[in-house]
Amino acid sequence: MVDEEKIIITSALPYAEALPHLGNLAGSILPADIYYKHLVMQGEDAIYICGSDQHGTPIELQAFKRKESPEELAERVHLQIKEQLERFGCTFTFYGKTHSAENKEIVYEVFEGLKSNGYISKIESEQAYCNVDQRFLSDRFIEGTCPYCGAKDARGDQCDTCGRLLNPKELIEPHCVICGSTDISFVRTEDLALDLKKLSPKISEFIERNSGKNWSKNAVNKSTSYIKQGLEPRAITRSMKWGFEVPGMPGKVFYVWFDAPLGYIGITKEWSKEKWASYWKARSTRLVQFMGKDNIEFHTLMWPGMLIGSNLGFVLPTTIFAYEFLNSRNVKFSKSKGVGLNIQSALEILPADYWRFALAYLLPETSDSEFSIALLIEIVDKVMNGNIGNFVHRVLSIAKQSGLQFQNVKADDSAEKEIGKHLESYNLHFEKIRIREALRDVIALASKGNEIMSVKEPWKLAKSKIDEEKQEFLSTITELLFMARACALMLWPFSPRASEHALCYFGISSPKLSDLEKPLALDESLELKPMFNKITETEKAKLEKFSTP
Ligand code: MF3
Ligand code: ZN
Repeated sequence: MVDEEKIIITSALPYAEALPHLGNLAGSILPADIYYKHLVMQGEDAIYICGSDQHGTPIELQAFKRKESPEELAERVHLQIKEQLERFGCTFTFYGKTHSAENKEIVYEVFEGLKSNGYISKIESEQAYCNVDQRFLSDRFIEGTCPYCGAKDARGDQCDTCGRLLNPKELIEPHCVICGSTDISFVRTEDLALDLKKLSPKISEFIERNSGKNWSKNAVNKSTSYIKQGLEPRAITRSMKWGFEVPGMPGKVFYVWFDAPLGYIGITKEWSKEKWASYWKARSTRLVQFMGKDNIEFHTLMWPGMLIGSNLGFVLPTTIFAYEFLNSRNVKFSKSKGVGLNIQSALEILPADYWRFALAYLLPETSDSEFSIALLIEIVDKVMNGNIGNFVHRVLSIAKQSGLQFQNVKADDSAEKEIGKHLESYNLHFEKIRIREALRDVIALASKGNEIMSVKEPWKLAKSKIDEEKQEFLSTITELLFMARACALMLWPFSPRASEHALCYFGISSPKLSDLEKPLALDESLELKPMFNKITETEKAKLEKFSTP
């Protein structure tokens, strides 16, 4: 049997705790979605897997504060996030969750594998224990005064006022977040650890073998430097209730960073009991993983370590692509509902296509980038609408007004050459996961079209009675129509709805790159509507509300 190459695309799983803000989107989910859509246009056998990361202390703590069970909270927020991401135009093959029966099975299987191959060790540590609640207090369940800056509300793991990372033992006058009591002891407890030290040669070999396969620079640099510093065993269990219980260890659950990456597999299994293994267990599968730079070490060290050590035949990451941060200037990005710019508030002002375009334009691919309302307006007005949208719309309008029929028209050499040049660069950029650059190729093609338009002025030629000029009109508009069709199609991964709308006039419904080789045919019965619009004063005013001085 021929093993056809399959591709799994993943994006880091958002915590089912708060709605992702625009910076989170730009830093993983959006580029993964765009990349996936490009693969779909190429006709590849690809799946896009994402979902909710539902375990961990922050969720347990928030549920406690809201008097909900962690499970209820994680389910409720999961559904909200899923709905909003879909409204944002993301097309996951499946948006699942880590707290599922399928993931639990995978987690236990991998854990048993690691254990029997000798990669699970024990480590002892001292942990805060509330004598009133009679439970261990993980980092966020204990608060006190920061020993560095004196802030009264420092958490066990970090002080938000001065930013220092803390060890719960350093807190002055610590108290339990659950009951407020200061009756806290530090008790020795034993946890299980993933023996990264023992796995280190294999992880390092994995990085050497794969890091040339379009990994982002930050992923290569960070992981090689961690390896150089030397890896140590890392705890994979915690003394808490919310999570998957560890077999044979009452009171302990797996650490969220153990079951979350396994969630990529669990979610695929949740999607299809029949198909998941044909993706995860085929040698030829390419696993391309998108994430923010703060997730690098988990994906380049711990997760491959788990896969290698358990030796169950799951594919290892082929490409690890980590984004830098999209920072906001003069605008509030917010995770919590209602305040600041999150997906929901963003979509109340402008359609998803507009945000997707602007964020893709600013993608923090090789360095941090900045987002501001002024930039958003400029990108939408000048580039998206002014360049691409206007080009496509004007060409279609001129063609329609000419009253000519465009059916089964073949491309001439100049159209083919012009499109071919931009398309080649576009595909190459996608191959190298330079998504922001691939968008520049679409823009460049539209610019070229606009240039031809202003030189040839086809709307004037269209009215001419001179044979030569009529001929000139026909060849110019044909070339421009081919270019406009290519522009609309190449825009699909970025702004799918506007692209589909324009492609209707060209009789294309589910766009494939191979459509570009077809002769051109216009559906002249459709009424023309512009692809995009400029930002209106009302929209501007709504956007300005999110500006901060
Ligand atoms: N929830 C994590 C975060 O938002 C990412 C988890 S990615 C996974 O930082 F690999 F663990 F799934
Ligand atoms: Zn307590």
